[in-house]
Parts: sequence; structure tokens; C-alpha cells
Amino acid sequence: MLSIFAILPLFALSAICAKIPAASSTSPIAATWYAGWHATKGFPLSSINWEKYNTIYYSFAIPTSSVDSLSLDGSDGDLLPEFVSTAHANGVEAHIAIGGWTGSLYFSSSFATAANRTAFVKTVSDFACKYNVDGVQFDWEYPNRQGVGCNTINKDDTANFLAFLQELRLDPVGAKLTISVSVSLLPFMDASGTPSTDVSGFAKVLDYIILMNYDVWGSWDSTVGPNAPLNDTCATTANQQGSAVSGVKAWSNAGIPIEQLVLGVAAYGHSFNVAHADAFVSDTKKLAASPTFNASDKPLGDVWDNTSGPDVCGVYQPSGGTFRFWGLVDNGFLTEKGKPVGGIHYRYDECSQTPYVYNETSQVMISYDNAKSFDAKGKYIKDTGLRGFAMWETGGDYNNILLDAISKGVGY
Ligand SMILES: *[C@@H]1O[C@H](CO)[C@@H](O)[C@H](O)[C@H]1NC(C)=O
Ligand SMILES: *[C@@H]1O[C@H](CO)[C@@H](O)[C@H](O)[C@H]1NC(C)=O
Ligand SMILES: *[C@@H]1O[C@H](CO)[C@@H](O)[C@H](O)[C@H]1NC(C)=O
Ligand SMILES: *[C@@H]1O[C@H](CO)[C@@H](O)[C@H](O)[C@H]1NC(C)=O
Ligand SMILES: *[C@@H]1O[C@H](CO)[C@@H](O)[C@H](O)[C@H]1NC(C)=O
Repeated sequence: MLSIFAILPLFALSAICAKIPAASSTSPIAATWYAGWHATKGFPLSSINWEKYNTIYYSFAIPTSSVDSLSLDGSDGDLLPEFVSTAHANGVEAHIAIGGWTGSLYFSSSFATAANRTAFVKTVSDFACKYNVDGVQFDWEYPNRQGVGCNTINKDDTANFLAFLQELRLDPVGAKLTISVSVSLLPFMDASGTPSTDVSGFAKVLDYIILMNYDVWGSWDSTVGPNAPLNDTCATTANQQGSAVSGVKAWSNAGIPIEQLVLGVAAYGHSFNVAHADAFVSDTKKLAASPTFNASDKPLGDVWDNTSGPDVCGVYQPSGGTFRFWGLVDNGFLTEKGKPVGGIHYRYDECSQTPYVYNETSQVMISYDNAKSFDAKGKYIKDTGLRGFAMWETGGDYNNILLDAISKGVGY
């Protein structure tokens, strides 16, 4: 008798882990990321608008130097149980996002051998059970391409990643999870270091793929350009650095069905220091396209941006110059309705379909997204037949101006 009772909790556990996901495999995605580290910076769980999303990704669990563990350090992991239960109480799928820009050091080593893949499948499925999440998302930046600077890396990363995902799908827990990846605009690098021409194997094991269509331009470039361009086929060749249009084309040409592609959108913008002489079309107060900027005088972004210091590789990094959408309101660029403040110069670029603002006193120019550009992205999702949108990050919006605009554009 005793031994039967001793086994019972195990059955109970597997019943919890084996629950059926809430969303059907083709339902549209209205998703966002919740950055755990912003819970204590003014965006607690209670600030989430659960009713306007159907999926929220808690960011991030991080692969470590041991294939047997995932770390929630730096992401206020104590909140994860409450995040999951509140999501479920609101009918929202709660997923864990794994990795991220600073959390991709040990993907390659975790996937490198058959033994490591098997161990990591167990690590991920145990984590999913423990926290009762409905899905897992792998945000590996990037397979066989260096990201933050000190990631483990291997020419077989993409093949190993696929082998891992196939094995995860064979796991009884993994079979039931919604599994997604967030990716750059170019398909995963193959063993020769060029974008793969056939990633159709990923379509078979993933529910969907999120195109991270942001950080396309930033302070690492030589001219100002759009953070999150919708289109770039209309741009000059030199300015074709990627866009939603190019990313969708690249991934669908490589074998991912359109309806498995989700557009990642940004509730933030990047800033640049631009001198008057460069900011305006000569003899006018019209903002110029693609001006040069002073890279050695990087503006400080909003209050969430005040984080200069050594990065995960131990290399000093200045603050990013990032402004969340609310940060543009906070810093006098936009009104509470999300429109340019009087005296702030504004330009809407018709090719990228994204806005710019410029303060000629501080010489700060910002490429960002607003209601108009989010509405355009929503319409593009609808017209193209993409699966939906995912916004980085829910704490970046102001009074749901962006979220409402894209939801309306998609037709949700
Ligand atoms: C397998 O994982 C362990 C950590 O658990 C790591 O030390 C080892 O380097 C990995 N193997 C490879 C080939 O990367
Ligand atoms: C992108 O630009 C090309 C070239 O101007 C145009 O034909 C196409 O309709 C544009 N697509 C979108 C979604 O704006
Ligand atoms: C760029 O900024 C640096 C630091 O503030 C300044 O010393 C330099 O003069 C600026 N360059 C130009 C061309 O304005
Ligand atoms: C940045 O943070 C430091 C330490 O918290 C603070 O002293 C400083 O005033 C902050 N700077 C800005 C511009 O917010
Ligand atoms: C522009 O920047 C200056 C200096 O930081 C600031 O005083 C001003 O309020 C800002 N806004 C406008 C509309 O000029």
C-alpha cells in the first residue's frame, strides 16, 4: 500500500506536465515578453495587461556551463510561479524564454553532443514541469555566429540545435509544449558560416518562429537608420540591412511556412547624436534621411538605460542609448498621446514605415515605433498571412498605445 501511495505524487506530476496547450496549433499569436529584471524598476507583474495578449514569455532562463541546469539569476525568478498562475487565471499561455543576448553563452555546448542534448532535454522538460509553463522559447543569439562576444560556438550549431529540438519533441513533456524560437532576419548559419538554404526541418518540430525585426540599425552603424524597418526593398542598396519584408522572404524561401512566422516588434527606439548641419535637409527644418552622427557622444537613453559597466564577457559597455516608448514620453519627445511634443522635429520614413524625432537643443535623434508604424506592421501581418506579433517588451509601451495599434492593424 505504502509503495502505491509513494508513487501517486509522480503520476500527479506527470498529469500536470502533460496538459494540453490552450491554443490550437494555428491560432493567431498576440504575444509579448515580460522582462523579470524590470519588476523592481517600475513594471511589476500587476502592470501586465493580460487581457490583450494570448501568450507571454517570461525572460529569461539561462543555459549555464552545466547542461543540468537553467538559471533564473538576474531575472527575478522568484516571480515566475506567480507569473504562471496569474497568466493561467487570465487564460493566457505562460512560456519561458531561454537565452537572450546576454544569455546565449552555453547553448552551443549544451547541444554539442548526443549526451549533452539528452541531458538538456531533461533539464528543459523538468523546468517546464516544475514551473508549469505551457511553452518554451529558445532565443539563441546566434547558432554558429558570435553574439555578445564570448558565446561557445561550433560550426555544427544549427544541425545540433535541430537534433536537440527533435529529441525534445520525443520527450513526453516536450511533445505537449508550445515550442518557439526567436531568430535574426537571416536563417541560422550553416556549417560554412552562411545562412542555411533549407531550415524546413525546424518547421516540423517548432510551433512557430519569431523574427526579431529590431536592432537592425543602431549606434554600431555609420549613419542613422530605422531600428525596426517594415520594408527595405524600397531603400538604396547600401541601406538594405534587413526588414520585416526581407526576413519573411528569407525564412520562407528557406522552408518555413508563412503561417509559422510571427513578427517581432519593438516598443523602443535607438538614439543618435546628430549635429544640426546633418539633421536637416539644407536650408529647411525638414529632417534628413540617413544623417551621420557623432559616435563618440552617445546619448543616454531613458532611466532603464542607465546601466553602463562590464557585460557578461567582462568587457565594459556604455549605456545603450535606448528609449522605451514610455521613455520618449518621459523625456519630452512625445506627448501622453504618443505624438511629437511642440518644438520636437518629426519625420515618418515612407520606405521603412517608421518615425524619427529630433530635439535640436540636445541634438538627440531617435528612430522608434509609434501607433502609425505599429498599425502598418499589423496590416502587413494580416495581408501577408503571418501568424501574429510578439512585442519586446510589454513594459516598454505607454498606455497600450502600441499594443492597441498593432492589434487593430492585424484585426484582432
Ligand atoms: C557538454 O556539457 C558540459 C557541461 O555540462 C560541458 O562541460 C561540455 O563542454 C559539453 N560538451 C561539449 C562538446 O561542448
Ligand atoms: C516594399 O517595397 C517594395 C518596393 O518599393 C514594394 O513593391 C512593396 O509593396 C513594399 N512592401 C511593403 C509591405 O510595404
Ligand atoms: C563628438 O563628440 C565628442 C565628445 O563629446 C566631441 O569631443 C567631438 O567634438 C564631437 N565631434 C563632432 C564632429 O562634433
Ligand atoms: C544613473 O544611475 C546612477 C546610480 O544609480 C545615478 O547616480 C545617476 O544619477 C543616474 N543618471 C541618470 C542620468 O539617470
Ligand atoms: C530638448 O532638449 C533640451 C535640452 O536637454 C530640453 O531643455 C528641452 O526641453 C527639450 N525639448 C524641446 C522641445 O526642446
